[in-house]
Amino acid sequence: MNRVGAMTKLIVLPETDTSNPSLSTTDAAAIAAHLSSVGIRFEQWTAGAPLANSADQEAVLAAYAADVARIKAQGFSTVDVARIAGDPTDDAFLTKAAEARSKFLAEHTHADDEVRFFVEGRGAFYLRINGSVHIVICEAGDYLSVPKDTKHWFDMGTRPRFTAIRFFAIEDGWVGNFTGDPIAARFPSFDELVSPAR
Ligand SMILES: [Fe+2]
Repeated sequence: MNRVGAMTKLIVLPETDTSNPSLSTTDAAAIAAHLSSVGIRFEQWTAGAPLANSADQEAVLAAYAADVARIKAQGFSTVDVARIAGDPTDDAFLTKAAEARSKFLAEHTHADDEVRFFVEGRGAFYLRINGSVHIVICEAGDYLSVPKDTKHWFDMGTRPRFTAIRFFAIEDGWVGNFTGDPIAARFPSFDELVSPAR
């Protein structure tokens, strides 16, 4: 499905040459096809429900009840909502946001698949597979399923705004197992990726 104004983007950078992408595309079908070839499931669905800044987890899940039920039926026991929404001119919000950002900014794996349906805002996944880092800048409507044990990290940027519904099959499977590899520092940050000059 194509959406007007979609900014979802896939950039594939060799681990050893972060300045020369082997692929860079905003075409949804091309993104899905390439990610599928490396074991990542990517789809685009409709995500247009208006969410108030005050919307809590229940409100988000209610707004997307049909999608949640459909995905849960595929074998997920639990669902929750990760939501970072606030005033980017508010220092208290930015401090909280920086804490949230730092949690998964370094390379890690999980014992469970990392399954996300973005319903608002955006963020970037960096997936390290077969000698390349696959950067997926996700936006509202994007569904991404990263298999367990895949090395990856996530950058929401310094002024984050996103809402993602998360699906879990294993209790505590979301816990990050950090590899200790500083690879993330060599790759462009979310802010750099989405800056107008790039
Ligand atoms: Fe993760």
